[in-house]
Amino acid sequence: MAKKLKIGLFGFGCVGQGLHYVLNNSTGFKADIIKIAVKDKTKERSVSKDLITFDKYEILNNPEIDVIVELIDDAEEAFNIVSEALKKGKHVVTANKKMLAIHLEELYALQQKYNVSLLYEASAGGSIPIIRTLEEYFDNEELEKVSGIFNGTTNYILTKTINEKLSYPVALKQAQEKGFAESDPTNDVEGFDPKFKAVIIALHAFGLIIKPDEVLNLGITTLHENDIKYASEKGYKIKLTPVIQRLDGDKVGVLVTPRFVKDTNQLFNVENEFNGVIVEGKFSGEQFLQGRGAGSYPTGAAVLSDISALSHGYKYEYKKHVQKHASDFTNDVIITAYFRYNSNADLEKIKFEEISEKYNSGDYNYVVGKVNLENIIKNRDYILTNSLFISLVNDKISLNIKNIQSIKKENQLATT
Ligand code: HSE
Repeated sequence: MAKKLKIGLFGFGCVGQGLHYVLNNSTGFKADIIKIAVKDKTKERSVSKDLITFDKYEILNNPEIDVIVELIDDAEEAFNIVSEALKKGKHVVTANKKMLAIHLEELYALQQKYNVSLLYEASAGGSIPIIRTLEEYFDNEELEKVSGIFNGTTNYILTKTINEKLSYPVALKQAQEKGFAESDPTNDVEGFDPKFKAVIIALHAFGLIIKPDEVLNLGITTLHENDIKYASEKGYKIKLTPVIQRLDGDKVGVLVTPRFVKDTNQLFNVENEFNGVIVEGKFSGEQFLQGRGAGSYPTGAAVLSDISALSHGYKYEYKKHVQKHASDFTNDVIITAYFRYNSNADLEKIKFEEISEKYNSGDYNYVVGKVNLENIIKNRDYILTNSLFISLVNDKISLNIKNIQSIKKENQLATT
């Protein structure tokens, strides 16, 4: 029989309380939370005072504790706790996508060096078991693409404002009250949160450790009534969709932007706080997973699933990283995008290589066409401060032609 684990928990917010509830209401699996470390000394807690500590070392130095569960907000403090725990030979479960995405390299190395397990299913896609699916089921098959909706808050806001005509502040407030949003919702609405998740997924899907700073994230803060009208006239819904795609062999492109989604796409009907992940394999084709991407109980359930996996000695093997399923991350790619702009100066900055649709009127101008992602990355701040809006019109990204030519040249040199 599996051993009954003793858990030391960091953080007792939305997910921590969700875990506590799910654990106490699960029939099959038993584990005890024996200590909870929290920061705020003034807050009333729904658990016995004996369980609470304000000193992290009461957990980190407790030899009785088998598993550390880290569910705090502050990514740097979380990294200190998690790395210290791993160095002490403790297994760790975390849901902290920002901490993971920023420190993937160090955390990978610590797991190898100290032969400990770090599990983080709850960090991406809420209760959707995407990481274990990639790790276990797709451990060998070469993947072409992973895309989807990885942020519950923005999907909730887009659903409520577009379908149900709520105002943006009201929809955001609801997302906060329901426990979907990050404590700083900028992370959600500007697309940082789904970017962190995309970086984590890229490691398990393609084996690459990518620095989040190098990946473009555009959110929904500059979305305008005219963009919504354009999309609905064409029968599209607007979704914030990360795309992680294999390009011409072994390079990988990653970006997080809004996208116009057609009714033939699985993501079209993914609404509210739900997330959806589409995994495209070389041989298996397209798979679609949907579930609650945010919220106390669904995320608590994902954390509990990791704790249960730990009780059976489970560890990520990072096979795609070890086997080098991809060689490189690149932003030198071409995307097809809709760009709403104010003046010709805006259009000159974000140079489109090809324009297939153009509209100009006094207060509404847009183009649709092909543009190099690097141009958008260079001008991200300009786009945001001038309230311009970019949306992909499909999920296809392709390597820039110059890049393809240089790969061909390298291959020729290698064979001569
Ligand atoms: N703020 C996140 C979201 C929470 O809305 O998806 C789950 O990671």
